Amino acid sequence: MSARAPWLIVGSDGLLGRALCARLRAGGRDVIATSRRPGTGAPFLELGRGVEGWRPPRPARVAHLLSAQASLELCRRDPAGTRLVNVEAVCALAESLRRQGCFVVLPSTNLVFDGTRAFARPQDPPRPATEYGRQKAEAERRLLAPGGGAAVVRLGKVLAPGLALWKSWIEALRRGEVIRPFRDMVMAPVTAALAAEVLERVAEAGRAGVFQFCASRDVTYAEAALRLARRLGADPRLVEPVSAQAAGWRDAVAAHATMDCSRLREEFGVSPPDPEQAVDALVEL
Ligand SMILES: NC(=O)c1ccc[n+]([C@@H]2O[C@H](COP(=O)([O-])OP(=O)(O)OC[C@H]3O[C@@H](n4cnc5c(N)ncnc54)[C@H](OP(=O)(O)O)[C@@H]3O)[C@@H](O)[C@H]2O)c1
Repeated sequence: MSARAPWLIVGSDGLLGRALCARLRAGGRDVIATSRRPGTGAPFLELGRGVEGWRPPRPARVAHLLSAQASLELCRRDPAGTRLVNVEAVCALAESLRRQGCFVVLPSTNLVFDGTRAFARPQDPPRPATEYGRQKAEAERRLLAPGGGAAVVRLGKVLAPGLALWKSWIEALRRGEVIRPFRDMVMAPVTAALAAEVLERVAEAGRAGVFQFCASRDVTYAEAALRLARRLGADPRLVEPVSAQAAGWRDAVAAHATMDCSRLREEFGVSPPDPEQAVDALVEL
């Protein structure tokens, strides 16, 4: 297929989809971006309605499969329904697009690991502790099976301005109100812009297998919120850490979110950023 053939972005309205489309279009790439929202004018693709036989309007060289039910809570409450999208539909679409000549890239997550050890390696056996993590691990396993030829890019928590939780915290801090972030839930966050850059580079290189990208160390939500308060010039005493465990988030409480990112460093010269960078970007942008 020609090097100028378009790139397909499945699920362009989400957090990562918006960042990736913006980056690719700014770089002059020909992008086909699907949506399940009416009236957008974008090619329609709803994964819940069957994807067999679906073809992009023009043959694509690369396909980023970003459509997902990415809520931990929704996956926990509706494992069967979310599995149909996150595993069955995603894998069927990946196989169909592969047959059409696409190089398929699937963003995945550090939650394929249970977080008991820091800097989980790509080759460590997945040990998800959440239903969302189990679904992503299953989709990974199928796409990485011999003959699959896909790239799986495991990302740490992706942050971007406008995210509901962070937006509500920023607004509360600006009003001088207390916020209660978890002191026992960690993340290794990266900005959506950096995650999009990594997705582009992996796809451009057409290299299959597992890539991992996250911040250089863990931070708790409470530490991140404190950083946010300082960046906003708000009183740090407005940040009142609470326990996620006590709030019922037992599955999602883990000691670590970091992953070993050496493949990206060695093959693309991309190093894990400090976690503060992703938090600061929430305010700076
Ligand atoms: N955000 C993170 O921290 C993070 C970290 C690691 C990996 N990832 C992975 O990155 C990918 C994108 O995540 P995100 O954060 O951008 O998620 P998001 O903001 O929730 O966006 C998900 C997208 O999928 C679409 N979608 C959901 N169900 C669909 C269906 N049945 N058919 C078609 N489209 C559907 C949504 O459409 P609507 O907008 O119309 O609802 C939305 O555009 C996911 O695979 C996720 O697992 C995300």
